[in-house]
Amino acid sequence: MVRNTPALGFNTWNTFGENINEQLIRELADAMVDTGLLAAGYNYLVIDDCWAEKQRDEEGRLVPDHRKFPGGMKALADYVHSKGLLFGMYSCAGTLTCAGYPSSFDYEFLDAATFASWGVDFLKYDYCNKPDTMPGPLLYRRMGAALESCGRDILFSACSWGADDTRSWIKSTGANMWRSTGDIFDNWASIKSLYQQQLDWLAYNGAGCFNDMDMLVVGMNSKGNVGLGGCTPEEYRTHISLWAMLASPLMIGCDIRSMDDLTKELLFNADMLAIDQDPGYRQVYCVGGDAECHTLVRLLEGGDFALCMVNLTDSPRLVGFHFTDLGICRGSGRTLTLRDVWTGETLEPANGTYRDTLAPHTCRLFRARQVEAR
Ligand code: GLA
Repeated sequence: MVRNTPALGFNTWNTFGENINEQLIRELADAMVDTGLLAAGYNYLVIDDCWAEKQRDEEGRLVPDHRKFPGGMKALADYVHSKGLLFGMYSCAGTLTCAGYPSSFDYEFLDAATFASWGVDFLKYDYCNKPDTMPGPLLYRRMGAALESCGRDILFSACSWGADDTRSWIKSTGANMWRSTGDIFDNWASIKSLYQQQLDWLAYNGAGCFNDMDMLVVGMNSKGNVGLGGCTPEEYRTHISLWAMLASPLMIGCDIRSMDDLTKELLFNADMLAIDQDPGYRQVYCVGGDAECHTLVRLLEGGDFALCMVNLTDSPRLVGFHFTDLGICRGSGRTLTLRDVWTGETLEPANGTYRDTLAPHTCRLFRARQVEAR
C-alpha cells in the first residue's frame, strides 16, 4: 500500500535493547494511549531485535522467546490492536540479526507469512550478516515481494543504513521508509552527524518511501541502550525540529512511561507534527550560510513554508534568509509572517529578510505564511 505520510510511533531499541518482554510491551501500549501519543498520531508500536528464540521450530518458523513472550506474538498483537495501535516487529536480511538472533535470509516468504499470521502491521528489516555473495537489493526485493503477497498490509521499513548505494534501489523493493544513515546515539555528535549526512539525500525523500533518519533520542536523558551522554534540552529541540523539517519518520525511543515535561512539549507540538506530516512532501532545500549554519526551507501544501534556521557550531552565529530565496520576490506583492513553532510567537519581519543570532546547537523552527505586502 502507498504510504503518503512518514510513520509515527515508538520503537523499543533505543531504551530497552534486549530487555524486552510482553509485560513491557503491554505497558508501552497502555502508555501510548494514556499519555495521548496515539491521539497525537503516534500509532505504531514496534518491537526491535532480541524477541526470538535462538532456534527456529521444526517447520522452520521463527519462534518468540518463551521467557520474554510466553503468551506468543498473536496474543500480544491482539492486545496492541485492542488499544487502537498498530503492531510492528523486526527481522533482518542476513543469516542472523544484528544482535545474533535467527534472521530472514532464505526464509523471507515463510517469515512474511508468520508475521502476517501474528497480525504484524510494520516490519523493520535490518542488514547485518548478509552473505557476501548476495546482493543487498535482491534481499530487500525478496522480502518486499513476500510482504506484498502475504495477505496483510505490512509497512516495510528498510534498515540498510544507506549502505551499498541504498538510495538508488530501495524504491524498487516496495519499502515505505529507508534508513539512510547509521545508528543514532543519545548525544549531540550523533545528531549532528546524521543530520549532515542526510543533506546529501534530500532529493530522495518523498511520499511512498521516506528517508528515515533513525529513531528519536528525545527524552532519553542519557538512560537506556543508546543513551551515550545525553543531550541538553535545546539539543533535543534541535534534533526533533530537524527530523520534522526533513519529513523523517518519527519513532520515539525514550521510555514513554515516564516522560518529563520537556519531552512531552517536544513530542506533542502540533505545528511540528504538521510540518513532519505535511501532505505535499516537497523537497527540502538550504539557503544561505554554510554546511554548519543555514536555513532549511520546505514549501508546504497550501503555500505556507516550513523554515528552520540552525546553528550546528559551538559558537553563537548570525543566521538569516531573504524571502526572495524562497520565491517570494519583490513583484509578488507578498511578504511573510513567521510563527515560531516552539514559542507560538508570530513575527512580521520588515524588508523581506530575517536574521537572528542563534546560540550553539540551537535552531528556530517557523511556519511562514504568505500575506499581502502593505
Ligand atoms: C541495527 C539497527 C538498529 C537496531 C539494531 C538491533 O544496528 O540499525 O536500529 O535495530 O540493529 O540489533
